[in-house]
Parts: sequence; structure tokens; C-alpha cells
Amino acid sequence: MIENSYKILRLFPAELSHSLTIKLLKLNIFTKNLKDHVSLHQHLFGLDFNNPIGLAAGFDKNAEVVSPLLSLGFGFVEIGTVTPLPQIGNKKPRIFRLFEEQAVINHLGFNNRGVEYVKAKLSRLNLNNLSNGVVGINIGKNLNTKNAIDDYCLCFEDLGKLAHYTTINVSSPNTPGLRDLQNRKNLEKLIKNLQNRKETNTELKSKPLLLKISPDLDDQQLRDIALISLANGIEGLIISNTTIDRPNSLMSKAKNLSGGLSGKPLFKKSTRVLKKIYALTNGSIPIIGVGGISNGEDCYQKIKSGASLVQLYTALVFKGPKLINHIKRELIFCLKTDGFKNIKEAIGKDV
Ligand SMILES: Cc1cc2nc3c(=O)[nH]c(=O)nc-3n(C[C@H](O)[C@H](O)[C@H](O)COP(=O)(O)O)c2cc1C
Repeated sequence: MIENSYKILRLFPAELSHSLTIKLLKLNIFTKNLKDHVSLHQHLFGLDFNNPIGLAAGFDKNAEVVSPLLSLGFGFVEIGTVTPLPQIGNKKPRIFRLFEEQAVINHLGFNNRGVEYVKAKLSRLNLNNLSNGVVGINIGKNLNTKNAIDDYCLCFEDLGKLAHYTTINVSSPNTPGLRDLQNRKNLEKLIKNLQNRKETNTELKSKPLLLKISPDLDDQQLRDIALISLANGIEGLIISNTTIDRPNSLMSKAKNLSGGLSGKPLFKKSTRVLKKIYALTNGSIPIIGVGGISNGEDCYQKIKSGASLVQLYTALVFKGPKLINHIKRELIFCLKTDGFKNIKEAIGKDV
């Protein structure tokens, strides 16, 4: 019954429905999942993943419901984006569902409760006892900050030690100027500063640093990002964030609203970028494939295109939490059909 509540929640405006979902999850009434099939297990960046399906950033921005989310069957959950200071984000309404396309446009602008709040929440979690789930923290900058690098460093130092991995988010389209941090010079400087903090802080030393990129980058920018990541010890890449593109095929009334588009119409574009980066890095940096995954076949395609793990968000809005175990079953079937004993054997097979 609870698992079908998403059908009722869909009748409410998108952001209200999201807050109700968080409230429902806080009740923590979902039973813990059974062990995942061995073909889904992986060891990546020093961490054990029971299955490759993760919850993408933006759903649990303030680390309110980490354990209940892992109980739904996710192999990992990414908190955030968190900025140093709390901020309210853009004016509402700022999340729109595109029912015809099973897509969402969001123009949130990093609404979150800030580092201090999230620090308190994460401190209460026992990282070693989360049904073997992995927790990532996704960090960003405040809208009106003077020095973006200082913002990222502060978030990393305060929150990085409380999560299993940290994601540098330079790819959300709703904070003016944020995506410029993906340009060669800016990105190099940002990553070097963060790596510096990592080396000088014993609590951060062993924590993997990941980078999340946009799907709207040209080939030169992708080459730069691949080179910078390889040269500066980025341990994982998340591909991708939402797009500012609007494919011609969109029919929904909301299609021309500004913001980042996610869900089904993002699948092709984000998978193309994933393949390119996998090739540019020779498969040497594990990639988390994100964008438009809504079934096991999509997930398998991301893996064959170079992803070691995947994340999703928008499909949950349309299909509810049963989707997670559904995808796992379909993925196990796909692997078996192609004669693979473990996901690892299928990674990048289409590139
Ligand atoms: C409502 C909403 C809020 C999001 N907020 C964030 C965010 O704060 N930080 C971030 O890195 N990505 C954010 N994303 C992007 C997702 O993490 C993901 O990269 C994107 O939605 C593509 O995956 P999907 O098609 O499965 O939704 C958000 C997405 C949505 C739909």
C-alpha cells in the first residue's frame, strides 16, 4: 500500500509531493531488503557496493532519510547538493512534471539547509552500519559567494569525512556561473585545491573524490575534463546532470520552462557523453551513469556504454520505489542472458 502511495502523491504539485514523500520515508516503515545477487556486487574506489543502483543527488538534499532510502533497495544514496550556508533557492513553482515524456524540469537553485544542518544529520548515521549501503555527499557553492573554491573546500572539509565519497557538482544549470567551473582553468584550480585539502587532512585522505558533469559540453570540453580528471586523481565521474536542451520531440506544456530537464528525454544524450568519456579515459576512471534510466534494460545499456554504477531520480516520480527491485531483477536477467557472471564483465562492452 505504502509502495503505491506515489500514485496518489502524483496528484499534488511536484514540490509538495516531494515533501510528503520525505515525511513518509521518515516513518521508516520499509522493510530491509534481502541480500542482492552476487552478479550485482562490486568493489569500487575502495568501497563495497551490493548493487549498482544509486539514488541521484537532489532527492535527499539534507540527509533526512538516508537509512529508509537504503532500505528501499538502493546500493548507494547521494545526499545534496549541499552549500556552505542554507539557501531557499529560486521562486516557486520550480519543479514541473512532463507526464507525456516521463520527464521533469527543475529550477530549484540549490535549496538546502546548509553544511551545519547536514553535518548534524550525517553525524548521527553510523556509516559502517547502514545495511551495507554507501553514502555520498554532493557539494556545491552558494549563489552569492565571492569565492567558489572556498565554498567547495569548506563543504568538503566539513562533510567529506562523514560520507563514503564526495561529489564535486559543477554541472547544475540553475546556479548562474556554476557550469563555468567545468572550464579547463577553473576546473583544474578547483580540483587541485580539493586534493590539497585531502592530502593534508587525515580524515579525508582515504575518501574518494568524484566529479559530476553536464551533458551539454562540447567535444573539446569533454577532452579537457578527461585529461584534468586523469592528471589530478579524480576517482570517479558522474555523467550526467540535467540538460538545458529541449529535444524537438517534447510535447508537454511545460517544455519551454527554464531549468534542467531530466528523465527519459535525457537518456540518449547523457549516454552519448558517457561513452565519449569512457573512451577518452580508456575506462580507467569508474563512471556512474545517470540520466533517463527507467528500467533494467536502460541500466544495462549504461553499463555497456561504460558505467560501473548508475543513479536515477526522475523515473521514481513516475514509477515509485518498486522500480528499484524491478530494475535489479531485469539487470540480473540481462547479464545472465549475455553470459556475464558479474556487472564488471559487461562494463564498456558497447564502446
Ligand atoms: C528535482 C531535481 C533536483 C535535482 N537536484 C540536484 C542537485 O541538487 N544536485 C545534483 O547534482 N543533481 C541534481 N539533480 C540531477 C539528478 O541528480 C540527475 O543527475 C538527473 O536528474 C538525471 O537523472 P534522472 O533522469 O534519472 O533524473 C536534480 C534532479 C531533479 C529532477
